[in-house]
Amino acid sequence: MAPLPLIAFDGVSRTFAGRRGGEPVPALRDLSLRVAEGETVAVVGPSGCGKTTLLELICGLQRPDSGALRSAPAALMPQRDLLLPWLPAVDNAALALRVRGVARDAARREVAPWFERFGLSGFETARPHELSGGMRQRVSFLRTLLAGKPVLSLDEPFAALDAITRAEMQAWLARILAEATRTVVLVTHDVEEAVLLGDRVLVMSPRPGRIVADLTVQGDRPRHRNDAAVVELRARALEALGVAA
Ligand SMILES: Nc1ncnc2c1ncn2[C@@H]1O[C@H](COP(=O)(O)OP(=O)(O)OP(=O)(O)O)[C@@H](O)[C@H]1O
Ligand SMILES: [Mg+2]
Repeated sequence: MAPLPLIAFDGVSRTFAGRRGGEPVPALRDLSLRVAEGETVAVVGPSGCGKTTLLELICGLQRPDSGALRSAPAALMPQRDLLLPWLPAVDNAALALRVRGVARDAARREVAPWFERFGLSGFETARPHELSGGMRQRVSFLRTLLAGKPVLSLDEPFAALDAITRAEMQAWLARILAEATRTVVLVTHDVEEAVLLGDRVLVMSPRPGRIVADLTVQGDRPRHRNDAAVVELRARALEALGVAA
């Protein structure tokens, strides 16, 4: 018998109440989804199609209006980094441990070896404003990873970075994902990023979002943008998005 998927959505809809008596806003409609343990699923779709809403449902921060959903415990890396400006990087990374009741020194000891692996050595005591955008994203990712949940929900983790830093961060995340046996839902508006990092690429329709294509990516990571499989799948994803490829 196939193992149970870690995430299962069946006909999930989510509508937000309209502001000041305005029309209700349907964000997701009749969305069904399965994610198996260890899979990295990339989700692309136009702005406002409900991608963040999807992640918040997975993490239990919202509830569906109709349909059924089940997910293993999930940690969210939010679209905007929520590093606390007054805390050194090491304590920002350790926040999820502190919230779980781990004492400060013990939390710092647990975080320290990760700073080396994440290219953050020497910046343990730096405040967020002293870090580059890519470094802040790595601290934020580390915080999400150390929450110790089986599912990682990443909301456009590299959207605010310039193209070169983003390419570096994509290569870095591909390496981390190859080692860490987590289940990942990665939201991005960048189709190429989705194809470089995902085992599958889910394409969402404009709001109210539902999944219009579920594409399986061939080839081991790290992948390169010029790989034939990447080029082909990018074209198929763009076609599904309704953009001329
Ligand atoms: N708390 C809320 N209250 C009211 N409307 C909301 C709320 N959260 C989201 N929405 C609406 O639901 C729709 C989907 O929003 P969501 O943030 O999930 O989209 P998204 O795909 O993540 O967009 P983006 O790519 O711009 O981040 C939007 O129309 C948004 O205005
Ligand atoms: Mg969003």
